[in-house]
Amino acid sequence: MTTIGIIGAGHIGSQIARKAVQLGYDVVIGNSRGPETLTELVAELGPRARAATAAGAAQAADFAVVTIPLKNYSQLPAEELAGKIVIDTINYYWERDGHIEVLDKGEATTSGLVQEHLSASKVAKGFNHIPAGDITTAGLPAGSENRRALATASNHQEAIALVIGLYDDFGFDTVDIGPLAESWRVERDRPAYVVRQNAAELESNLARAPRLI
Ligand SMILES: NC(=O)c1ccc[n+]([C@@H]2O[C@H](COP(=O)([O-])OP(=O)(O)OC[C@H]3O[C@@H](n4cnc5c(N)ncnc54)[C@H](OP(=O)(O)O)[C@@H]3O)[C@@H](O)[C@H]2O)c1
Repeated sequence: MTTIGIIGAGHIGSQIARKAVQLGYDVVIGNSRGPETLTELVAELGPRARAATAAGAAQAADFAVVTIPLKNYSQLPAEELAGKIVIDTINYYWERDGHIEVLDKGEATTSGLVQEHLSASKVAKGFNHIPAGDITTAGLPAGSENRRALATASNHQEAIALVIGLYDDFGFDTVDIGPLAESWRVERDRPAYVVRQNAAELESNLARAPRLI
């Protein structure tokens, strides 16, 4: 049985947890305030889920999802995530996160910053351009006409392969953007951001994305 460690239990973390337990994954989920604040959520999720600290969720994970505000990314437990594939849903909202000069200048990507911090992990961008509510409702079986597609990017092929499999389980096709250095194509306010698109439409939206917005 595969255990997904989810760090962040807000809109996206809880939705990924809901879909994952439906699909038969085990889930260990943590936030910043401590597992005692997650009793309601884990009760709803049922026996496949438990709450832990963020470090505990990382430690228990076969692979992890990190889904917290960007301003806190340097608090992610690098040691406990070492050697693991980490799916990063994080977006940059300067209004929430404060200005980060390398991002404002187009000299870095959000997932690149997460990969730098988690230098011993294999970071893949994932689930960053789908509204939380759609994660449990928008999936379709493989081969469905006009199936929704989601993008990923990673410097590690093994991480891309894992995301492709997970997206497929969740009901989505994948478009592989390539390395994290190209992942700005699906960041906030680009054409592919939080719109419903199939794989061909997503590829076209990624291709026409401007580097700076
Ligand atoms: N909402 C969406 O539709 C959507 C879609 C795609 C991507 N995203 C991105 O995904 C990320 C999460 O979004 P969200 O809407 O789920 O946010 P959210 O509802 O505000 O939830 C954030 C979660 O992160 C936890 N957290 C914050 N700092 C932490 C830390 N240092 N260690 C562990 N946990 C920490 C919070 O825990 P506490 O409450 O205990 O502080 C909370 O559970 C963001 O970067 C967002 O931009 C959001």
